[in-house]
Amino acid sequence: MADASSSTQELASKEPKPPSAGPLLEVSGIVKSFGRTKVIAGVSFHVAAGEFLTLLGPSGCGKTTTLRIIAGFEQADKGRVFLKGEDVTTRPPYLRDVHTVFQHYALFPHYNVFDNVAFGLRIQKLPKRQIKTRVTEVLDLVKLSGYEKRRTTEMSGGQMQRIALARALAGRPSLLLLDEPLGALDLKLRREMQLELKAIQRRLGIAFIYVTHDQDEAMAMSDRIVVFHHGRIEQIGTPSEVYRKPKTSFVADFMGSANILSGRLIGFKDGCVRIRLEDEVEVEFPYADPLPVAQGQALCVAIRPERISVRYEGDLPLRGSCVSLPAILADTVSLGDETQMFLAFFKNSTKTVLSATMEARHQNERRDGTPVWADIRWRDILLLEPEGE
Ligand SMILES: Nc1ncnc2c1ncn2[C@@H]1O[C@H](COP(=O)(O)OP(=O)(O)OP(=O)(O)O)[C@@H](O)[C@H]1O
Ligand SMILES: [Mg+2]
Repeated sequence: MADASSSTQELASKEPKPPSAGPLLEVSGIVKSFGRTKVIAGVSFHVAAGEFLTLLGPSGCGKTTTLRIIAGFEQADKGRVFLKGEDVTTRPPYLRDVHTVFQHYALFPHYNVFDNVAFGLRIQKLPKRQIKTRVTEVLDLVKLSGYEKRRTTEMSGGQMQRIALARALAGRPSLLLLDEPLGALDLKLRREMQLELKAIQRRLGIAFIYVTHDQDEAMAMSDRIVVFHHGRIEQIGTPSEVYRKPKTSFVADFMGSANILSGRLIGFKDGCVRIRLEDEVEVEFPYADPLPVAQGQALCVAIRPERISVRYEGDLPLRGSCVSLPAILADTVSLGDETQMFLAFFKNSTKTVLSATMEARHQNERRDGTPVWADIRWRDILLLEPEGE
């Protein structure tokens, strides 16, 4: 990528700057059904110029459909799409300043690399010389200079992905939509391409809407993440916000993993919450964040496995302010340096297990069935709305 900067700068400087006021793209109140099934149930978000926004969620939650509505390949039943302040809701795809890179590249196998990248520019009827300059620039950018004459069938998966990216960038959109663009690549190549994509995006200053169901990928690349679930947005925030301050138990569990306990908020006084868990176990601790529910209502208590410290009877409790829950060690799985421990939490519950990690030196000390204490620092306890609300 060392020699790509001059052509990149040229690309970037020719890009007409979007007006600074207002977002580049605004999606407002989108609803979409296929037959009787509602797949998008009122989705709104915006993308700023130059931003890397990721739509993250499990399979079937509506990510691709949302992208297709933004691109104009699909019409929403309700809601509007604004691009640079203009309502483009009914505008056909080719009249939107947006390009899409699909998971399966959609390259033309009988064309060589140059012709694949030049395809859209020829449709736009740009002069031949200009097409040559642009294709050379973008191939340079994606590190494929010298491959112009190769047939795409003779290229590797990672190279094909770069061709698809080059073709989308050649049209110089203000907004690029990428639908699981690295999905077909093996993990190592995927990680490499993540870094490259992010670097190209930064250099060009083009806004990306990136679709993935891989939370690590979303965390590594995004300025902000939109977490989707069943056609709705669960949360929008920076990677650190959605990880550290998930708004729902779905987000808590999807971003990393979380142990979710159900409980009821039975008191809030002087900055301290009182929560009743199963088996009438009550815990009280200071809580500074806004409460997700009113007093008396059901809520979820989420705790990340790595934030649970397991202690045997007689061991010293965790230093600092924490709650200690009694549990039974139900199972242990060795993971090399660490042991994953499954804790049965409440005596009437066979379902509630928490996983936690413990240092290797403790691995062989106790057997399953041993009573233990789970220490959790106050600040590591997340209170969330109950599921399904
Ligand atoms: N053309 C269509 N006709 C009928 N149902 C559709 C159509 N396109 C999508 N769906 C349905 O809409 C829902 C959302 O699909 P979508 O492709 O947007 O999900 P996704 O989040 O992109 O999933 P994935 O991660 O598997 O790609 C799914 O249940 C899917 O089966
Ligand atoms: Mg999809």
